[in-house]
Amino acid sequence: MSTSLLEIFDLVHVYMPGTPFERRALDGVSLRVAPGEALGLAGASGSGKSTLAQHMNGLLRPTEGSVRVDGLEIPRRGGDLGGVRATVGLLFQFPEQQLFEETLEQDVAFGPRNLGLPPAEIRERVAEALDLVGLPASRFAGRSPFALSGGERRRAALAGVLAMRPRCLVLDEPTAGLDPRGATALLELLARLREERGMSLVVISHRMEDLARLVERMVVLSHGRVVGDAPIRELLHRTEWLGDHGLEAPALSRLSARWAQEGLSLEPAPLTVSEAEMVLRGRLCLG
Ligand SMILES: Nc1ncnc2c1ncn2[C@@H]1O[C@H](COP(=O)(O)OP(=O)(O)OP(=O)(O)O)[C@@H](O)[C@H]1O
Ligand SMILES: [Mg+2]
Repeated sequence: MSTSLLEIFDLVHVYMPGTPFERRALDGVSLRVAPGEALGLAGASGSGKSTLAQHMNGLLRPTEGSVRVDGLEIPRRGGDLGGVRATVGLLFQFPEQQLFEETLEQDVAFGPRNLGLPPAEIRERVAEALDLVGLPASRFAGRSPFALSGGERRRAALAGVLAMRPRCLVLDEPTAGLDPRGATALLELLARLREERGMSLVVISHRMEDLARLVERMVVLSHGRVVGDAPIRELLHRTEWLGDHGLEAPALSRLSARWAQEGLSLEPAPLTVSEAEMVLRGRLCLG
């Protein structure tokens, strides 16, 4: 018996095999996500993050290797993916690819309707999901998804995913295009969904600060391979190593790494402003 919600083993994905454009985007990726766990997924542009995300709910199928969702293996082709889609919700990197109905209400209702739920429950789920993402149904239900700003569209797409009430959310760059307040609100919502509903999270981001606030563990991809899978605090202090993989450590990690070279070590090494404040207060004897 496995206790993993997501279990990926030796996954290979080749785009357009046998053509001049053939591209091995994933090259033997293995990882697990436990129920209720939050995992960060990072890596340079083109390292394979979105490809991996799309395998987590069966949107792409393995060229080699396997993907199991709640113990069930996703078939190489065909098969009924209803259970997988209800378990794992995927927020696409480009939310405009995810919105297509005439009104926001219809869009968010699309998934629950496909689950064959009764109309009253669909309405309840739509209202709840729109509320959660800060687009209250009273103001937004009748709006066209195409008349929304980029940030609103991203939140609308997330509402559509949340309306499925999945046990695991896979989010591809969820804060891209949001203003700082919108980004913070989204990160807080995700933390709350995890805490209150025990949702698992897989969060793709280039913003290490965002990941540090949300997840305990991080997987780093490089050229379609896993080059790091460890507690995020450990990885974020390896500033040079992150740079080698196209990532940038949080400003405070870089600061403490520089000071450490000059013999001034901050312990515990801070990642956030409030952690830095605590360490510095101690150092400066401000109590
Ligand atoms: N539909 C596709 N057809 C062919 N090649 C693709 C396709 N999608 C992605 N690729 C290639 O696969 C590799 C991995 O792409 P992927 O989109 O997974 O990277 P990523 O890590 O998500 O990058 P980014 O940070 O820019 O979003 C890249 O080399 C890309 O060019
Ligand atoms: Mg991507």
